[in-house]
Amino acid sequence: MKLLWTTDLHLMNIGGKHRSGVDPAVRLRACLDDMLAEHADAARLIITGDLIQLRHPGAYRLLAEALAEVPIPVRLLVGNHDDREALVDSFPELQLSGGFVQYAEQFEKYQLIYLDTLADDGKHFGQLSAERLAWLDTTLGASEGPALLFMHHPPAAVGIPALDTVRLNDGDIDLARILQRHRHRQPYLLCGHLHRNVSGVWRGTPFTVMTAPYIGFALRMQEQTLVAVDENPGYGVVLCSEEGVVIHTNSIRKQVATLETLSATR
Ligand SMILES: [Fe+2]
Repeated sequence: MKLLWTTDLHLMNIGGKHRSGVDPAVRLRACLDDMLAEHADAARLIITGDLIQLRHPGAYRLLAEALAEVPIPVRLLVGNHDDREALVDSFPELQLSGGFVQYAEQFEKYQLIYLDTLADDGKHFGQLSAERLAWLDTTLGASEGPALLFMHHPPAAVGIPALDTVRLNDGDIDLARILQRHRHRQPYLLCGHLHRNVSGVWRGTPFTVMTAPYIGFALRMQEQTLVAVDENPGYGVVLCSEEGVVIHTNSIRKQVATLETLSATR
């Protein structure tokens, strides 16, 4: 089974650009073109939140238009920049659980679980409330085989102070307990939010954070403020087999440079 995975698109209302000049819609287009050229055989395209930039709800329409051309089933999650209500308005087919954008599906021997870590007060850190954790516990208990948990906020501190303050830090201890209880399910966490490619093991559970097609965050371990950098955009390709899970990060630097040059001179 092959899964395509991207995250942190930060799409803006029409005409919106990051102060660096980066156009998130151009970045998404470049990633989608590359995905479809190379991986049209994928079973799913999963986008782990921050689909739009904060207060740009009109961008969900842009996303819907872009995804309408994708013949692969798409699975969406919310991040701290997202607006659940506006998202559901643009994607009425989206599955919900108790009003949260979280759901699960079985694919071959793997269970794919999509978690909603958006804090209920609109803060940027991640939260798994008791209701969401109970749903996860029940969901993990209702199936067998390895579980891939897609979620926006990673629970792990990664050594970058400005990002560690906005990790999943509300409900993280209970999450670790639940994962421990279902250890035989071999849970694997696949997250966004950091705009960097990071892997590790958090309280016994392996995790990977995928790079964003949009602007990156610098590896600054001495500073308290977030530093944006124009790192190589990319997306993930996840291969799941009888033997285990392989995660590739595919960088598409050259194609994006060409596209941006073209759009600037048009
Ligand atoms: Fe985020």
